[in-house]
Amino acid sequence: MTTRTRYPGAAEYIPHTDDLAAVRAAAQRCHGCDLYRDATQTVFGEGAATASTVLVGEQPGNDEDLDGHPFVGPAGHLLDRALAEIGVDRDSLYLTNAVKHFRFVERGKRRIHQQPRRTEIVACAPWLVTELELVAPDLVICLGAIATQAVLGPKAKVTELRGRIVDAEHYRVGATVHPASVLRATDRAQAYTEFVDDLTRLFEAG
Ligand code: URA
Ligand code: SF4
Repeated sequence: MTTRTRYPGAAEYIPHTDDLAAVRAAAQRCHGCDLYRDATQTVFGEGAATASTVLVGEQPGNDEDLDGHPFVGPAGHLLDRALAEIGVDRDSLYLTNAVKHFRFVERGKRRIHQQPRRTEIVACAPWLVTELELVAPDLVICLGAIATQAVLGPKAKVTELRGRIVDAEHYRVGATVHPASVLRATDRAQAYTEFVDDLTRLFEAG
């Protein structure tokens, strides 16, 4: 009976303030779902507080969990390389994740990433909603399936949307694959080229 766990969610942990730094600090104490139990810390979004573009990933990975900052591990390095290639300054963006705690299973000494469950995405969504309200970007770029579903709803498919922009109520939304999927691809060079092509198109359109 564990698959249908409904979590209380993050809403009650969110302070009533427009101060993004205060919201980030409050997120450190979130117990809105069970992922905080095994993870090291909350990894909240970071970057320009009034960025015109927000990038949304899935969840912190092993490195981010230990470090406390988003996109600092291998996927983050690949993203940095792609952004540099298309001339986008990472510091001009706001980077965050659909889920703020690392979900993993232990295999010996290694911690293996596990996709967040729908219940965890829903539980954590109030943080993302609050970040998007406060940063108020023109464009939200979803990296991968989980981010795309967190922003556009559970039926949204990154495979259909990638490289395209759709209108949402308060901003436009673009999608591409997750940088970690580029690292796992059989033809990495090809996957990287397609990732950079998507980002180029999305930033040009945004
Ligand atoms: N993958 C993500 O989706 N987010 C991170 O912050 C790091 C890796
Ligand atoms: Fe709270 Fe999100 Fe962490 Fe769950 S994953 S405890 S909802 S911050």
